[in-house]
Amino acid sequence: MPTVDDPSVRQVCVGCHWTMLPGLLPARSWDKIMNGLDDHFGKKLDMSEELQRYILHYLKENAAEYTESETSVKILDSIGSRTPIQLSDSKFFEKKHHEISQSDWNHKKVVYKSNCVACHIELAETGSFDEVENPNK
Ligand code: HEC
Ligand code: HEC
Repeated sequence: MPTVDDPSVRQVCVGCHWTMLPGLLPARSWDKIMNGLDDHFGKKLDMSEELQRYILHYLKENAAEYTESETSVKILDSIGSRTPIQLSDSKFFEKKHHEISQSDWNHKKVVYKSNCVACHIELAETGSFDEVENPNK
């Protein structure tokens, strides 16, 4: 799956969490997320309208519909016509992680399911899910 190669998107979206890959959600989800910056999961994100438009454009251009990634295709399939705003909100995600216990999710290195890079240690840099490390093991 393509990684985030745009410096301004990296700069703005990596302050509080990893730079989530746009290919993990459909374009309409990024629309919803970037049009709700006043209440972004309890935080207010301040940025110029121009920057907001720029980032949204980038995220939509690289959204799940437009990657060559098989994972993106499966994510799209499994969410159907819904518009999730969380990366873990899909049957596909549940299916791939059904063996992970609550204590693994609660581990201090994970905390949020969306913190994919706690276990998929190469994901942010290479876009690959191949290397997996369970922080509890
Ligand atoms: C001021 C801090 C902050 C910044 C900056 C920020 N976010 Fe977030 N974001 C959060 C918090 C807090 C959450 C909820 C906790 C979590 O899942 O990490 C969150 C969650 C998310 C989620 C949902 C994750 C999930 O699956 O649960 C997405 C998608 C997201 N952010 C995208 C972005 C994008 C795109 C940007 C850049 C425009 C951005 N964020 C910048 C604080 C921030
Ligand atoms: C607590 C650790 C953990 C977190 C956090 C986590 N995963 Fe996973 N993930 C795993 C494990 C373990 C597997 C199973 C690997 C296997 O079967 O080889 C897996 C499998 C996958 C697979 C299937 C890979 C394949 O090649 O079949 C995908 C896709 C995936 N995860 C995506 C994600 C995404 C997207 C996120 C964040 C929203 C995420 N994961 C968060 C541990 C995690």
